Amino acid sequence: MIKVGIIGGSGYTAGELIRILLHHSKVTIDFVYSTSHNGKKISSIHQDLVHQTTQEFTQTVNPNVDVVFLCLGHGNSGKFLSTQQFSEDTIFIDLSNEFRLKHTFQGKSFVYGLPEIHKTSIKTASAIANPGCFATAIQLALLPLAHHNLLKSDVHINAVTGATGAGVMPSPTTHFAWRTANYSYYKPFKHQHLDEIQQTIQGIQSDFKHQLFFIPNRGNFSRGIFVTLYTHFEGDLSEAQQLYSDFYAKAPYTHIVDQPLHLKQVVNTNNCLIHLHKYQNQLLITSCIDNLLKGASGQAVQNMNLHFGFNETEGLQLKSFYF
Ligand SMILES: NC(=O)c1ccc[n+]([C@@H]2O[C@H](COP(=O)([O-])OP(=O)(O)OC[C@H]3O[C@@H](n4cnc5c(N)ncnc54)[C@H](OP(=O)(O)O)[C@@H]3O)[C@@H](O)[C@H]2O)c1
Repeated sequence: MIKVGIIGGSGYTAGELIRILLHHSKVTIDFVYSTSHNGKKISSIHQDLVHQTTQEFTQTVNPNVDVVFLCLGHGNSGKFLSTQQFSEDTIFIDLSNEFRLKHTFQGKSFVYGLPEIHKTSIKTASAIANPGCFATAIQLALLPLAHHNLLKSDVHINAVTGATGAGVMPSPTTHFAWRTANYSYYKPFKHQHLDEIQQTIQGIQSDFKHQLFFIPNRGNFSRGIFVTLYTHFEGDLSEAQQLYSDFYAKAPYTHIVDQPLHLKQVVNTNNCLIHLHKYQNQLLITSCIDNLLKGASGQAVQNMNLHFGFNETEGLQLKSFYF
C-alpha cells in the first residue's frame, strides 16, 4: 500500500480524488489538508462521502507520504510546497497549471502527465503536471494527426464545459440563476490551455505552424467537456478512423466511437470518447470527457497508477451515469 496526501481538500477535484482513492486497493489516504475546513469531517463537506469515511480534514502533513496531490487554485501549489518539507521520495502530482510549462521546481522535474503519449516518462517522474481539462480533450482529438505530421492547416475548436470546471467557489457565471437555461462563450482565442496544447503539438509535429482557433463556452450542466474541432484532412473517413484506432490501440481510456457522441456517455468515467466525420476536405473530430475525471482527478490517479506500476485502470473502472 502507498500513502497519499491531498492538498486543497474541500475543492471539487480533491473531492473526486477522495471518492476514487477510498476504493483503490493499493492506496491509503494518509491526510487531506484543508485551509478552510481544518478539523471538520470530510463527509460534512463532500457529502457524497457520508458513511464512506470517518476521516477529518487536517493542517498537519505527513512528510513521508509517497504521493502528494495538489488540488489548489492556480498559483498556489508552489507557494504551498515552499512552506513544507516532503521526503525526497515523495512524488508531487499537481492538478493546477503551474508546472505544465515550467518544468522544474525545488529540484523536481515535472513531466506532463498525458498518459497517451508520456507513459514512459510518467513511470520515472519525480513530479507530474496533470494536464488541463480542455487541454486533455483537445489534445486527444489532435494527437493522431500530429503523430503522422498531418496537421496541415489551422484548427477550429469549439468546446463547452460544465459549471464544476470553474471550481467550488460560486461566481456570477456559476450561480444557478445565471447558468440554468443559458449559454455563453468566454476567453475567445485566448484560453490559457492553448499554451500547453501548443507545447504538446510542437513536441510531436515540429513543423506545425498553423493557428489553433479556440472558442470555450459555458454550458448549462454540472460536469463534462464536449469538443468539436475541424481541420484539413486529405484522406477518406476510413483512413482517419484507422489512424485514430491504431494510435489509441493500447490506451485504456481513449476510444474511437462510430456513432456521434453525447456528453452523458462520459460523465462519471475516466474515458475520452472520440468520433470522426468527414465533410469535403475537412475532418470533424468530436471528443468528450468528464472534466473532473479524465480532465483532472481520474487522470491524476491514472498517472499515479502508471508511476507505481499498478494496473493503469485500478480504481478507475467507472460507468457513466447516463440517465
Ligand atoms: N474543476 C475542474 O474541472 C478542473 C479540471 C482540471 C484542472 N483543474 C485545476 O485543479 C485545481 C483545483 O481545481 P478545483 O476545481 O478542485 O478547485 P476548487 O474547487 O476551487 O478547490 C480549490 C481548493 O483549494 C483551496 N484553496 C483555494 N484558494 C486557496 C488559496 N488562496 N490558498 C490555498 N488554498 C486555497 C481550497 O481548499 P481548502 O480550503 O480545503 O484548502 C479550495 O477548495 C485548479 O488549479 C484547477 O484549475 C480543475
